[in-house]
Amino acid sequence: MMVDMQPDLTDGLTEIVATPKFVPAPDICREPLSIGGVAMPSRFFFAPMAGYSSLALRLALRELGGLGLATTELVNARSLIEKRQKAFELSETCDEEEPVSIQLYGHVAAEMIEATKICIGMGATMIDINMGCPVKKIVKSGGGSALLCDVGGATALVDAVVNASSVPVTVKMRLGWDDATPTAPELSRQFEQIGVSAVIIHGRTREQSFMGTVNLPGIASVVEAVDKITVVGNGDVLTLADAERMFRETGCHAISIGRGALGNPFIFRQLDHWAKFGEPGPDPGFTDRLNLMDRHFHKLVELRGEFQACTQFRKSLAWYQHAIRAPKYLYHQLINLPNVARFDETIAAMRSEGPVGPLPSHFEPKIPTPKGPIDKW
Ligand SMILES: Cc1cc2nc3c(=O)[nH]c(=O)nc-3n(C[C@H](O)[C@H](O)[C@H](O)COP(=O)(O)O)c2cc1C
Repeated sequence: MMVDMQPDLTDGLTEIVATPKFVPAPDICREPLSIGGVAMPSRFFFAPMAGYSSLALRLALRELGGLGLATTELVNARSLIEKRQKAFELSETCDEEEPVSIQLYGHVAAEMIEATKICIGMGATMIDINMGCPVKKIVKSGGGSALLCDVGGATALVDAVVNASSVPVTVKMRLGWDDATPTAPELSRQFEQIGVSAVIIHGRTREQSFMGTVNLPGIASVVEAVDKITVVGNGDVLTLADAERMFRETGCHAISIGRGALGNPFIFRQLDHWAKFGEPGPDPGFTDRLNLMDRHFHKLVELRGEFQACTQFRKSLAWYQHAIRAPKYLYHQLINLPNVARFDETIAAMRSEGPVGPLPSHFEPKIPTPKGPIDKW
């Protein structure tokens, strides 16, 4: 490691920081990728996360650059058919968002087919089928990771969707139900035969939930099992070094990032810059971070209206405060935000006052995941 005087990355605060040496990006990163004929802007995808991957955030992330495919959080096929408002909100997309995959879960072929058609009508570039959700309510109904236990049934379900879909279909799954039943390679082989365009593999079993570290040899076994479809590696990618290791140790063709992107929303831009130029480009400065906050909030207002935006944005505030280090009194003004005008005034004040100390260059995602015995959640 070299110690260097960096240029002013923090819009007013110069830090002495270590300049790390970056591992080179694998050659594959510079090759174009298309999935089912749809061109991907990059090989770095935003993973679906219930409660987090809203349209507003996806659009704000896309504007930062470097994002390949974004996926909505999982939506229940039957709820879409029953025209439930919440289901339509979860799967909402718009013209500015492309490519985007709408993720469906369910286990009844007729419902999955009908929901697929609804999603295509809503603008989905692709349909993603969830076979990874470990939550008891979903598993008990036969959806999510329960499908990993029935290769024949899962293949028939996916086949029905592929045949009914005019857009590419992908499947996101875990490695298997538990260590004794690693079904992902066999399922992926079957899915390739019936026309699935890509599989996204979270390198954990259902039993592992979110514990332990991601199993890279497990993802590699899926890459070996298929002939030519895209395998997207997923799990625990927080840094460039993690991404490099995921490519190198698994042979995957693209990477999907969930919690790492909530911790560091600039990760796609940094990975894409690394893929092209060998290093992540300049750290996001105070203005970049504040602009992201501004865009994210205003997207929410456009989509959900003033009242909902003011309430929903509260969830993201702690992260932004950590990232921008605004004076405390300004942060407090945003906690019980009454309206858009107050947000705009506060952001203007934050811009003129600047941060109260050096900005963190390392972001940790603090996303709660279910804990305790898996049968209880
Ligand atoms: C809060 C939360 C919600 C999630 N929701 C979904 C979901 O709706 N659909 C899905 O396929 N995976 C979901 N996942 C799993 C992620 O997409 C991803 O597979 C997992 O977090 C591992 O990747 P990461 O380490 O990059 O976060 C969720 C994960 C978290 C933490």
